[in-house]
Amino acid sequence: MISKNISIDVKGLKKSYKKVSVLNNVNFEVETGTIFSLLGSNGAGKTTTIKILSTLIKPDSGSINVCGYNVRKEPHKIHEVISLTGQFSAVDETLTGLENLILIGKLTHLPNVKERANELLTYFDLVSASNRLVSTYSGGMRRKLDIAMSLVNSPSVLFLDEPTTGLDPQSRHNMWEIIKDLKNTGTTIFLTTQYLEEAEQLADNIAILDKGSIIVEGTLEELKKLLPQEIVEFEFPSKQDYEKALSLLKEYRVTSDQEKNQLTVYTLEAIKVLTKLFQLFTAHNINIKDVSRKSPSLEDVFLTLIGEKEALKNE
Ligand SMILES: Nc1ncnc2c1ncn2[C@@H]1O[C@H](COP(=O)(O)OP(=O)(O)OP(=O)(O)O)[C@@H](O)[C@H]1O
Ligand SMILES: [Mg+2]
Repeated sequence: MISKNISIDVKGLKKSYKKVSVLNNVNFEVETGTIFSLLGSNGAGKTTTIKILSTLIKPDSGSINVCGYNVRKEPHKIHEVISLTGQFSAVDETLTGLENLILIGKLTHLPNVKERANELLTYFDLVSASNRLVSTYSGGMRRKLDIAMSLVNSPSVLFLDEPTTGLDPQSRHNMWEIIKDLKNTGTTIFLTTQYLEEAEQLADNIAILDKGSIIVEGTLEELKKLLPQEIVEFEFPSKQDYEKALSLLKEYRVTSDQEKNQLTVYTLEAIKVLTKLFQLFTAHNINIKDVSRKSPSLEDVFLTLIGEKEALKNE
């Protein structure tokens, strides 16, 4: 058997703030050179987990190792091999982009600071703005600089706490490319995100944190298999068609989108339901604009597992 190289190893992690338990027996491993995404609702404990792994706060109990170093006994060793981009920007608004990078390089006693700073500015497409004060940067530029700052010392493990929150779709896609590139250079990435599509795009492994522990962990495919259901989506050409169709679907599990004249049916037997509904709609003179069959998204899996949505059962 080939033994895996593990960069982050968490066993029995517990953390309470005063008497409120946030993490109650969290366990997971992150393989070196992979992207691991931790998902969870607001307040689930994602940032707390990142802070513990990056030694900013101490766990109450558990055995936690990063790059083979124990977070409690060897925090200084961990500082040498990790970097963190927090949920809230760490850039200094009163400095230029270049100055921010140089400052970090000096703080970490990096040789050839200026060279590394220019390399990162080029990589993040910030060269033309490098001598401008950060206060004049757009949100996306700030976020890029923030991540550039965490790469000054070429970390082995990079913690990214919601790296694309607030970015427009174009900037988000650019950031995804950057994160994929970093993985390809061998960096291990621990990512939290509010965007399930981001985890779908990037993560080799996904874990869902709920009520203090990891309720499920696996690849995207593994997680999707946890929901046996399929999704059938109908779009109608008019409000009348849409409303008539909706009134006929009382015995089905349906969500509706009034603005798009769209109905989504959740079922365990997509083909059977499709055939039946085509017949039903035709019999009632309902026109259909479009129809599609889909498998559940990570969002469906997430909402079902954390109990916001009910799963269909095979009876
Ligand atoms: N310093 C603190 N003192 C007391 N409670 C705290 C402290 N930091 C976090 N908490 C609480 O711990 C819980 C987990 O917070 P955390 O920031 O880890 O959540 P999160 O999963 O990152 O949420 P979000 O998606 O909103 O960023 C929350 O209920 C929060 O209020
Ligand atoms: Mg957070």
